[in-house]
Amino acid sequence: METIVEPGAMQAWADATRAAGLRVALVPTMGALHAGHVALVAEARRRAERVVVSIFVNPIQFDRRDDFERYPRTLEDDEARCTAAGVDVVFAPSAGAMYPEGFKAAVEVAHLTAPLCGRGRPGHFRGVTTVVTKLFHCVRPDVAVFGEKDWQQLAVIRRMTADLDFGIEIVGVPTIREADGVALSSRNRRLGPVDREAARCLPRALGAAAQLVTAGEARARAVLARVEAEIGGEPRAKLEYAALCDPDTLEDVTDVKAPALLALAVWVGGVRLIDNRLLVPGRINR
Ligand code: PAF
Repeated sequence: METIVEPGAMQAWADATRAAGLRVALVPTMGALHAGHVALVAEARRRAERVVVSIFVNPIQFDRRDDFERYPRTLEDDEARCTAAGVDVVFAPSAGAMYPEGFKAAVEVAHLTAPLCGRGRPGHFRGVTTVVTKLFHCVRPDVAVFGEKDWQQLAVIRRMTADLDFGIEIVGVPTIREADGVALSSRNRRLGPVDREAARCLPRALGAAAQLVTAGEARARAVLARVEAEIGGEPRAKLEYAALCDPDTLEDVTDVKAPALLALAVWVGGVRLIDNRLLVPGRINR
């Protein structure tokens, strides 16, 4: 496995690889890799002959400076994980290489970026779509793999890729969870033991809502009230939002008549956690 840090060198590798007739898959990450990322790499390996993992803590997608500064940076461990997972290239550019002096461009997707995380994190998705565009231009992948834990991000990137004719296949991979149901996230590293325990309220709330829908409850108000009660019962947690929406348009639904996305953002001990679950009426939602 090799690590490439210069965008130009990354493009040269990509051109040579594609000229040799090999498919390239990209797994974009901000590092602090965990088993969830390893699952993305495994999916990437199934879909292409060469796999690139990008590791870049993207400053322009953080709405709070302290969050950016405290984001875990573990490049050596990440490289070891990538080697073990069979990655061909780690692309780890510097901030200066990605955003040189005078950088002024931005890529923006309207509407889909307004609700859910877009409401509380102004500019976040603009930062994501801008950096993902740059990563796509550096790595020139045939396919790119993202986690469904960041459902809204995945929806926004699908829209951007289709609207701007990137010609890249976008693949979503289901969320990987710990044994107690907590979704894997690089941010979990910042939870102390007591807050890690408190974080169980997220999968608990999603599970309680799923049970309600399985039992025949279709009113979004009732489902969301159940979620609020569950999160409210955990003194260390503060609900930022809970929403029931259409999984594609992300518009609120008032009744669960078709598969609906239940999405949550919850603060636990100063760490913002997100999670989601698809609720399907008329089916046992385990
Ligand atoms: O999901 C992430 O880790 C980031 O938002 C991404 C897609 C790598 C862009 O910086």
